[in-house]
Amino acid sequence: MSFTPVLPRDDLRDGDMRSVHVDGRGVLIVRFNGEVYAYEDRCAHQGVPLSEGTLHGYVLACRAHEWLFDVRNGQGINPALAFLRRFPVKIEDGQVLVDVGAPAA
Ligand code: FES
Repeated sequence: MSFTPVLPRDDLRDGDMRSVHVDGRGVLIVRFNGEVYAYEDRCAHQGVPLSEGTLHGYVLACRAHEWLFDVRNGQGINPALAFLRRFPVKIEDGQVLVDVGAPAA
C-alpha cells in the first residue's frame, strides 16, 4: 500500500467535497460528520465526475442522471445495487492521505 498526501484535512469543511488527482486518477474526497472518505471520481453509471454533483448531508447526487450514493460507504441509494470504488484514507499530521492502489475493505 502506498498512501499519498492529497490535501490538509482542515482545507475540507464538514459537508464539503473536493476532486484531486493521484497517480493520474481522479479521486473524490468527502468530509462528512468528521470522517473523511475517498472514492474514484467517477459515477458508477456512465463515469461522469461525481465532484460535479451535489452533496446534501450524506447523499451525493450525480449531476448527469441524478443517481444517488451514500458517501459514508459508497453504496447506491437509487439505484440500490450501484456502488462506488472506495479507497483507503488515513490522516497524518493534519494531512489527508489516500491509497489508490487498493480498494478499501
Ligand atoms: Fe451519473 Fe448517469 S453518469 S447518473
